[in-house]
Amino acid sequence: MQFKVDWHDRLGSTNTYMKQRFIRESDIPSGSIVATREQTAGRGRQERKWLSAPDTNLCFSLFIATPAELMAVPSLTMAIAMAVSEMLNRLRIPAAPKWPNDVLVDGKKICGILSERVESGDSSATGIIVGIGLNVNMSSVEAEAIDRPATSMLIVSSQAHDLCRTLESLFQPLEHWIEEWKQGGFPRLRESWTQQAGPIGKRLTVHDGDVIKSGTLAGFGDHGELLLNTENGVETIWSGDVSA
Ligand code: ATP
Ligand code: BTN
Repeated sequence: MQFKVDWHDRLGSTNTYMKQRFIRESDIPSGSIVATREQTAGRGRQERKWLSAPDTNLCFSLFIATPAELMAVPSLTMAIAMAVSEMLNRLRIPAAPKWPNDVLVDGKKICGILSERVESGDSSATGIIVGIGLNVNMSSVEAEAIDRPATSMLIVSSQAHDLCRTLESLFQPLEHWIEEWKQGGFPRLRESWTQQAGPIGKRLTVHDGDVIKSGTLAGFGDHGELLLNTENGVETIWSGDVSA
């Protein structure tokens, strides 16, 4: 996959920008990246806000041309979380992916991923826009201002990191994990994912809207869905917020 980065000084949301570009052009090459030095309206899941001070963190979206299946979105997000985690591990940052769309260090979020499926008006072109927010040089004061535990590469490694070089260092792991995902979907990632995001048997509570479920981790299904052992048997969870 050829990655090509289009850098901007300031955008609302790189995911929204990429989506608008897709609606206009529809033949965007796989591997196209839109990155911004300042993002003024960053989005998380369920329209939650993604906060990032100017010139501090990586905020970018990657387009992957792929067949239209909706089922593909969660497992691609998981493949991307594996790639980000691998890049951080190479810098001796003890990151691990967290189901369904985060990367954590010591229980604090260092990266959030928002994947959105896009389809052209005549359905001839489809793809997934993967939005990645990676906290690179966020200070501990900025991290403490976020309503949930957050951290950054600077906080963990006591060292500032160059944004362009950090983005480039993601290319190889991204290429590797996207290729694995293309070849075999989630089953191809399952073993590594479970090793890092598990372990099996871990006690979990899942909040999905008003529904709260507790149990132990039974594993992950063929599309990356979480399997939870509860007193009613194994339940399949497609979305939600997980806490230990
Ligand atoms: P969790 O998995 O921690 O329960 P979430 O992943 O479900 O959270 P998302 O909607 O995916 O929540 O992410 C948005 C949330 O992330 C925001 O509501 C905020 O709490 C937090 N957040 C916002 N900006 C950042 C950031 N730069 N770094 C870490 N966390 C952030
Ligand atoms: C989450 O944890 O909910 C996902 C956060 C995703 C944030 C990134 S930053 C780049 C891209 N543009 C957005 O508006 N969101 C994603």
